[in-house]
Amino acid sequence: LIDTLPQTLIWSDDVLSVLDQRALPKKIEYLHLLHIEDAHFAIKTLAVRGAPAIGVAAAYALAQSMQDSKLQDQEFHQQLMANATYLKSARPTAVNLAWAIDRVVAAYQEMPYKRTLVDCAQAIHQEDLAISLARGEHGAPLIQPNWSVLTHCNAGSLATSRLGTATAPMYTRHQQGIAFSVFADETRPLYQGARLTTWELEQAGIDTTLICDNMAASLMASGRIDMALVGTDRVTANGDVVNKIGTLNVAILCRHFDIPFYVACPSSTFDPATPRGQDVVIEQRDRDEVIGRHSTALKVLNPAFDVTPHELVTGIITEHGICAPSELRRQLSDLQ
Ligand code: MRU
Repeated sequence: LIDTLPQTLIWSDDVLSVLDQRALPKKIEYLHLLHIEDAHFAIKTLAVRGAPAIGVAAAYALAQSMQDSKLQDQEFHQQLMANATYLKSARPTAVNLAWAIDRVVAAYQEMPYKRTLVDCAQAIHQEDLAISLARGEHGAPLIQPNWSVLTHCNAGSLATSRLGTATAPMYTRHQQGIAFSVFADETRPLYQGARLTTWELEQAGIDTTLICDNMAASLMASGRIDMALVGTDRVTANGDVVNKIGTLNVAILCRHFDIPFYVACPSSTFDPATPRGQDVVIEQRDRDEVIGRHSTALKVLNPAFDVTPHELVTGIITEHGICAPSELRRQLSDLQ
């Protein structure tokens, strides 16, 4: 479906390489992450980004970091735990990072061989591919013929292993031959919408228009947006949605203009251990991302994510189907 796009992550000969998203769309370059510090840096600086993709990257990085270890038994396990903690510290908000690392550690504890680590990371990667196809199938019918869909940030192929989160229903609907268009918020300050989402969707042949973040209200007021569809870095137990800063603005606007606001994610983005969105650590990033390096006097705030209360979310699309945010907990626990 989107075979023209370069792979976000490649695992080959026990080395993880990631497409450097900081350089896109100008350059297509891969970073070969030979050491755990390289992986930590790549995640922290958003060379690899998006909740599912950083989970997959961290799982591989953890596995890779232990392959040449000469440590045995208890000492091996201690080093594995230390590396896991270090990788988790790269970014705090997306639960997929900790989820994937914990899964690799648990697999090793169950079957303590070095290759277990690699096998588990590969399984997480493969599952992410399959899950995105299922999410696309469930979400595609929500996009009615000739509708315009607003999206924010990049919740696309680049942020996952394949079809993306918010973009999965778009790619699937496009493949079904249904005409629709997308408005992509540019997504200040790092322009994931302008640099990444437009680049992806255009290559797939989807009619895409870039807008500044502050244009959505006016487009909605003139009836030009039919639904909003975004990804998420964490859905808390009560269904609150944590996603790229500016998502809350879109959700509030949708409520005002009576436009459906949907969120798409893998079920691994659900965090039942955190009660509400306000309990999530919101990553605070460097001031330079907002103001550049030239002005040192100004006070600058740069929170990378915000919390959309569950009341503003029409539905959450996962590989299991679509449900109200308050239903997600029950739906996922029924499946276990
Ligand atoms: O800071 P980023 O670019 O990693 O933020 C990504 C997002 O906010 C996405 O919407 C999110 O990870 C969900 S979908 C992949």
